[in-house]
Amino acid sequence: SVGEKLDMRTIASRIKDGQITRIVVLLGAGISTAAGIPDFRSPNTGLYDKLAPLHLPYPEAVFHISYFAHTPEPFYAIARARHPGNLQPTASHAFLALLAQKKVLHFIFTQNIDGLEQDAGVPADKILWAHGNWKSQHCWKCKTEYPDDLMQKAIRDGAVPYCQMPECGGAVKPDVVFFGQSLPLEFDEKEKLVPEADLMLVMGTSLKVAPCSRLPRLVQEGIPRVLINMEKSGDFGSRNEDVCILGSCDEGVRKLAHELGWSEDLDALWRS
Ligand code: OAD
Repeated sequence: SVGEKLDMRTIASRIKDGQITRIVVLLGAGISTAAGIPDFRSPNTGLYDKLAPLHLPYPEAVFHISYFAHTPEPFYAIARARHPGNLQPTASHAFLALLAQKKVLHFIFTQNIDGLEQDAGVPADKILWAHGNWKSQHCWKCKTEYPDDLMQKAIRDGAVPYCQMPECGGAVKPDVVFFGQSLPLEFDEKEKLVPEADLMLVMGTSLKVAPCSRLPRLVQEGIPRVLINMEKSGDFGSRNEDVCILGSCDEGVRKLAHELGWSEDLDALWRS
């Protein structure tokens, strides 16, 4: 009812009794820190606080296309540490797979490029990798594709791979979205799913980077929005239906799973 303050328990009971069936999720780097990939903006531990040795004009330059175009070395200096390799999904990723299994997951927007959502068992057609992925790579300049094996080697060695086309010589870039580049074409289409949500779940993001940062505001008035994050982010708290579960993502999903009576299901999925 109007004016009612929501909490985690109310949200859980609405999911259990079938009032909530279309959960739209937005993910950021905080969901994968427990898997071993540091986030970007956390003080001290985040990537952007560790880049002084690279002498960048500003931290985000490492992911800016116009900087990469002439100075690709810093990106390859950090690429190996951010490459998914053989990382394991976290309990938070498993919780997303559980939402899909329970048929309450409408769609996931992820800013992460590690692919752990799919590794955890979320069907690929329920995920938009808004910032691309590591699965393919092209010359930033002439757009020619570059072989996977050579790319793997470049990442391992921290050495810039260059385009093999005669007289091009552009640096090769994985198909992750850099600042100054467009998001995947599907973004505009998938954005329309947000107003269909009967719950929005935002996890592990500072909500500082557009356009993903605007998605929570597209949730219809009166629809609950849940933030599971170390800190408050974006405009969370500004709506009466906002619920902030502050702390680690894994703790947050465990509490929520407990309220839902899904703790065993979560453990079973996570260990599998
Ligand atoms: P940020 O590093 O900006 O934010 C991560 C958020 O997760 C912060 O609010 C942290 O407090 C929180 N956090 C960290 N570890 C956590 C944990 N274990 N549990 C809960 N919360 C945790 O990362 P994003 O918001 O994902 O894009 O950054 C967005 C984009 O900026 C990235 O996709 C990347 C970056 O530059 C590009 O490079 C284009």
